[in-house]
Amino acid sequence: MPSVVIVGAQWGDEGKGKITDFLARDADMVVRYQGGANAGHTVVVDGITYKLHLVPSGIIHGKTCVIGNGCVVDPETLLREIEYLHGHGVDTQGRLWISDAAHLIMPYHQRLDALQEQLRGDQRIGTTGRGIGPAYADKAARTGIRVGDLLDEALFRQRLERNVRQLNDLMHRVYDSEPFDVRAIAEQYLDLASRLRPYITDTAALINEALDQGRRVLFEGAQGTMLDLDHGSYPYVTSSYPSAGGACIGAGVGPTRIDHVIGVAKAYTSRVGDGPFPTELDDEIGEWIRQKGREFGTTTGRPRRCGWLDAVVLRHAVQVSGLGGLALVHLDTLGGLERVRIASAYEYRGQRLERLPHGAHQLAQCRPIYEELPGWDEDISSARRFEDLPENARNYVRRVEALVGVPVQLLSIGPDRAQTIALDDVFAAAARARGAGAR
Ligand code: IMO
Ligand code: MG
Repeated sequence: MPSVVIVGAQWGDEGKGKITDFLARDADMVVRYQGGANAGHTVVVDGITYKLHLVPSGIIHGKTCVIGNGCVVDPETLLREIEYLHGHGVDTQGRLWISDAAHLIMPYHQRLDALQEQLRGDQRIGTTGRGIGPAYADKAARTGIRVGDLLDEALFRQRLERNVRQLNDLMHRVYDSEPFDVRAIAEQYLDLASRLRPYITDTAALINEALDQGRRVLFEGAQGTMLDLDHGSYPYVTSSYPSAGGACIGAGVGPTRIDHVIGVAKAYTSRVGDGPFPTELDDEIGEWIRQKGREFGTTTGRPRRCGWLDAVVLRHAVQVSGLGGLALVHLDTLGGLERVRIASAYEYRGQRLERLPHGAHQLAQCRPIYEELPGWDEDISSARRFEDLPENARNYVRRVEALVGVPVQLLSIGPDRAQTIALDDVFAAAARARGAGAR
């Protein structure tokens, strides 16, 4: 049975939650493989809006859900989210599993996140303040504390004490900030541990077993390609690997077990946080898109920066994640504009660039080269088939496919599940890809 990875093809907030929800009904297991509560995934089911940060969106449909080893887990936020789900009648016991190898976000990571942002001044990244960067930094420095460590009190205390001792020195000497209280943190986390215990397991074994048994596994990416630590607009990125390769490392499955990757992209572009954004619109059209598209952050409430669709960014996502198709969302939001634009390339120091340059510094000097297409006035939010769309909207979609080089498999024209047009069966496409690979 096929496995599918869903990745954000832009700077996050592409609508991955809705696409995951759409595909999760046909899946057996949904896996988050990176990131933490910096994500904000909105899912509307039967008129109820769920906002999830860490638990995979498939939980609402009673699917087995996994928070993989590539994630960073803030246990307090996670337990709050579990309670929120229980409050909405969504069961998690025996359905939600957390990797014992995922790293913990500690209170000091959150404070460090804020202090580091202050120090960066006007070069700040605009992080979500969830402690993500410092937690992954500890992981890479081999001083992180993992979810499984919570189950061994002596080990947990030992690692915590070592970290806090070093950190308090830093707090005092560099940041002029209050010391951390080891005891208080230990009590708080060990108490949370007793409530998390039933959810903690070796999730890589669980996922591989499901694949062995022919189950359909969906990998739910958070953030997006342009926020990828290696493939994004460094250093204005997050500290994990949202691109498709991250699913292998972050879930513990081999690359040969991934059959298909679908990239989620808005019909325009948005970005929350700082850093270069070539197609950003600083005018009334940008404001119009922000209002009509309800472009305000799920996690931080910040207004998102909005601009035209950028085909250079999407081609980059196709390349680094091996996208086999796109889910193009928010097409309805563009309705009502006289003309719509797509950046097909950049101009960089007098030269035409078809690909992304090296990093944020160069990206900041890129000017988009636009194609202009006629817009459409009709409200398309109740269309059910591609043929129902006005000609100009269809032409827009076809032009995106031509510029990006992969087919649009799903089209979203509103937040509701019914407002999704499937131009292809994504799991069938994955099965086809698997068949082709086997030959
Ligand atoms: P979802 O899953 C949009 C951005 C932050 C900041 C940068 C680094 O909803 O698409 P971090 O807190 O991760 O260290 O911040 O990444 N960012 C996101 N932007 N959607 C997200 O998640 C994001 N997660 C992080 O705004 O620019
Ligand atoms: Mg978000």
